[in-house]
Amino acid sequence: MGELNNLEDLFHHQLKDIYSAEKQLIKALPTMVENASNEQLQKAFEEHLEETKGHKKRLEEIGEELDLDLSGETCNAMKGLIEEAEEFISENPDLDVKDAGIIADAQRIEHYEISAYGTAVTFAEALGHNNAAKKLQQTLDEESEADATLNELAIESVNPRAKSV
Ligand SMILES: [Fe+2]
Repeated sequence: MGELNNLEDLFHHQLKDIYSAEKQLIKALPTMVENASNEQLQKAFEEHLEETKGHKKRLEEIGEELDLDLSGETCNAMKGLIEEAEEFISENPDLDVKDAGIIADAQRIEHYEISAYGTAVTFAEALGHNNAAKKLQQTLDEESEADATLNELAIESVNPRAKSV
């Protein structure tokens, strides 16, 4: 048997995975800011970059509380999602189409994180880690808000522009 023998182990494993995902996203978001043409979209990515740094910090606080080293894991799902976004950007689409595509890729990322944090909250609650559950829920709420903001931007301004290219 490996080191994953109970829900606590699995929770730690999930936290490490999310930690890697957040660190990768912090590196990737500046590229999204640079490549967004719509000012509101740029602003949304800039804000989410700051939030994402906060998410990383919350995970570090949880790691300290649980006496857990979060390093050493690579989230391959986030790696793939970021690669796809970068590939799309490198195809050099029309600027309005590029905005619509970057939103699509960013929302995939948000949905992945929403799923991961949803699971992490549930595990933390099951294990009685109430502080951790609260912090993870805060991040989950911010991810959901970021997703809603992107959705609104897409529907109200980016998609209509991309349509009339
Ligand atoms: Fe995040």
